[in-house]
Amino acid sequence: MNIRKLLFSLLALPVCFGAFAQKYDNIAKTPQMGWNSWNKFNCNINEQLVRETADTMVELGLVDAGYIYLNMDDCWHGERDSLGFITENKEKFPSGLKSLSDYLHSKGLKFGIYSDAGRKTCAGFPGSFGHEYQDAIRYAQWGVDYLKYDWCAAKDINPKGAYALMRDALKSAGRPVLFSMCEWGSNQPWLWAENVGHSWRTTGDICASFAEDMVYDGWKALSVLSILDMQVELRQYAGPGHWNDPDMLEVGNGMSVSEDRAHFTMWCMLAAPLLLGNDLTNMTKETLEIITNREVIAIDQDTLGVQGLKFKDDGAVEYWFKPLAGGQWAFCILNRSNEEVTLSINWKEFNFTDELSGLSTAFDKVLYDYKDLWNSKNVGNTRSNISVTIGGHDVSVYRLTPNNSKKSKK
Ligand code: GLA
Repeated sequence: MNIRKLLFSLLALPVCFGAFAQKYDNIAKTPQMGWNSWNKFNCNINEQLVRETADTMVELGLVDAGYIYLNMDDCWHGERDSLGFITENKEKFPSGLKSLSDYLHSKGLKFGIYSDAGRKTCAGFPGSFGHEYQDAIRYAQWGVDYLKYDWCAAKDINPKGAYALMRDALKSAGRPVLFSMCEWGSNQPWLWAENVGHSWRTTGDICASFAEDMVYDGWKALSVLSILDMQVELRQYAGPGHWNDPDMLEVGNGMSVSEDRAHFTMWCMLAAPLLLGNDLTNMTKETLEIITNREVIAIDQDTLGVQGLKFKDDGAVEYWFKPLAGGQWAFCILNRSNEEVTLSINWKEFNFTDELSGLSTAFDKVLYDYKDLWNSKNVGNTRSNISVTIGGHDVSVYRLTPNNSKKSKK
């Protein structure tokens, strides 16, 4: 081999190994919002459910509030055809997924689908292993905008390679797709997937339980608080276009109203993807109020894109901050206990600099106006201490805005 050929081969190597491959950018600059079928419906999905859910998302203002993805999870699949292309289950989806996708797009929604990097999905349907490019082409033909990519039946498959392969397949198919990685944090994707997925699950599956994990045959579903605790050390890895995903929401699936409110608020403090997981066609007024609280959603969707931090805890009471654009902060108090607590908040005890964002609360120098986001009548400023009462398994969350007209002298 002459020297020119050798140089050319060396230069070509990174191309062959995908070193220059990119995921789609300009997707998920703020955490994705939508609905997913799994938490409530498991495998019981069909065309009628998807269409009714879409109609409801428009009618109830959920699309306006930002929930634009309608994602079908596992169990939509039929067989692979004679060429190896995946088909939909024709009994469940008689009009076909292209027509369903057209319907969702006509309603202003985006269409999400589910597959698995392994040989089978977690419910036993065909996985994408060995068919990645075919699947990506088929999804593009169907008008798919979002892919959740799971990790069952993946023995001896290299996770970094498997997820990068599907990223490249989606890119080659030419239709922008939000790539939602779901390998449950098993391979620490936060360390390597910033340029692979737009989000990655950080844990095993959630369940509709606030404080107690549920143990099933051979596996454990995690409570809201268990999952929350597992996010604390991961904040440095999240940011615009690449989010930690603490799993989909269980609001409206059987927890108490205060637990639902606390769950939703903490997911917003975490800058988590907000994927509703309840039956939207049949929910209570309280559930609707929680999921459409625009001021709480705005904490999640803040353009600074910094995951919140746990500043301190006093046993069952935790104090969380999230830096927001424009020098603002979200401040949240979480009561993990079953008992109501009354607390005195001395703002100056919360002076700190967040090393990740470089931003300081500087309560000794900056006067903030605050607004309680679940009780909009509760407004004031940080000149004086406040007393807060929080019920069991509940939160108080505030937006703090620098009051530029009256700089505090103290
Ligand atoms: C895994 C995922 C869940 C869901 C199911 C579907 O358990 O973590 O979110 O997608 O598979 O089978």
